[in-house]
Amino acid sequence: MNSKLLLLLCLKLLIFQGISAQVKIKIEKTEDAPQISKHIYGHFAEHLGRCIYEGLYVGEDNKIIPNTEGVRNDIIAALKELDIPNLRWPGGCFADTYHWKDGVGPQSKRPTIVNRWWGGTTEDNSFGTHNFLNLCELLGAEPYLSANVGSGTVQELADWIQYTTHDGISPMADWRRENGREKPWKVKYWGVGNETWGCGGNMTAEYYANIYRQYATFMTDWGNGDGIYRIASGASEDDYNWTETLMKNVPFNLMEAVALHDYAVFDWNAKGPSINFDEEIYFKTMKQALNMDEYVTKHIAIMDKYDPEGKVDLFVDEWGGWYDAEPEVKNGVLYQQNTIRDVMIAGTVLNTFNNHARRVKMANLAQMVNVLQAVILTDEEKMIKTPTYHVMHMYKVHQDAKLLPTTIVENTKYRGLPVISVSASKDKNGGYHISLVNIDPEKSHIVEIDLSRFQVKKPSASILTSEKLQDYNSFENPEKVKPKEFKDFKIKSGIMLVEIPKHSLIVLELN
Ligand code: AHR
Repeated sequence: MNSKLLLLLCLKLLIFQGISAQVKIKIEKTEDAPQISKHIYGHFAEHLGRCIYEGLYVGEDNKIIPNTEGVRNDIIAALKELDIPNLRWPGGCFADTYHWKDGVGPQSKRPTIVNRWWGGTTEDNSFGTHNFLNLCELLGAEPYLSANVGSGTVQELADWIQYTTHDGISPMADWRRENGREKPWKVKYWGVGNETWGCGGNMTAEYYANIYRQYATFMTDWGNGDGIYRIASGASEDDYNWTETLMKNVPFNLMEAVALHDYAVFDWNAKGPSINFDEEIYFKTMKQALNMDEYVTKHIAIMDKYDPEGKVDLFVDEWGGWYDAEPEVKNGVLYQQNTIRDVMIAGTVLNTFNNHARRVKMANLAQMVNVLQAVILTDEEKMIKTPTYHVMHMYKVHQDAKLLPTTIVENTKYRGLPVISVSASKDKNGGYHISLVNIDPEKSHIVEIDLSRFQVKKPSASILTSEKLQDYNSFENPEKVKPKEFKDFKIKSGIMLVEIPKHSLIVLELN
């Protein structure tokens, strides 16, 4: 070791003696804290670019790529490791053009459709309701069907529910049996339109609230005991009037959840590249990603005003980073790479959702394969896990764990943004987990966590980071970014000191 390096190490050790923690965190141990719904770790797959066709679904007759009922086996295996709790389908904007009856029955008889929102591609409807619901069963994920309000009918939606969930004799249940499925599936989550203020019909909030009431009236679980969750198409970002109008005008016996969409986009006309971004673009993206906390807080405040008992949940059923698509990818509509910047987005946003677990009961990362902030990318027979995949894997310890509310007593700033984000939980076996993110692209920070009220025996940690913010996993180098063991922490007299490197994410396990 040269003398300069030794000096640096000594300096680091000196600081690490506890002289100068720049960030101080307190963890409360309250008994009445909510459970973090596992559904916050949900996903979203739309008929868009290469998400379904050429991504997830390669067709049953494909002899090159191993598959189960047409869905790639490598993707199934990767998703199983994530314990994905739910999957939203078929859109997005696509949902309000989709007529589900086109996608059931013999494949040869299914009509084609043109995907008008996403590239004008012609689809053959070979991936339909049976394929999707069977896939959910295989993954152990609950399906979330997003129904067509913009160009559909009340009857069409009522029929879809009967087709998928009715156990008795009925026109739709009989048709399902004819199509090869005897028993109904379990489908609890139903979206009533998508972005009805935009691609779902350009409606006003008042008009949609009325339409919603009409649709919701004819939605039933057929007494099958699974219950039904009717999810109202919600606001975008800070459109608080939308949430207020729904909460004011829809009776709570007709609505189980209100949605919210928020992407980390700083300029919809110039979103910037997914890999070759500079520090200025990084800063702007993070500023927008961190706004999620303000949006969620304010939408919840409105919901609390009308529904203090918390009967209606908030579902953030689309979130993630959105950049300019990679130009060289064939049918790469909304195909983007995924870097350490995406790790920062996912880590901070998921911390926000965990911390608002009292009302945020579901969230869906957009999107699962080859679209936006995907966890998986494919190139013909090749498949890679993105850095965001690893965040979802590291954070799964929070699924259904009890929230431990945290307070950042002192934080430090990166260009005015708080550098450290945190959330913590206690799992059913009594294990504690703390997820920390340092968004600072230049400096590590020493974080002091007061654990004096906890009994910590064998702490361990993993870290997700890379040398450069722009680093990513490619088909040539698929493991450049992956979690590693992390040891730069110590505990003394109930105080934990962690030196969290620049642009990195850490999950601490305290058993
Ligand atoms: O996720 C891509 C699109 O973003 C969805 O189709 C739409 O709901 C949103 O605007």
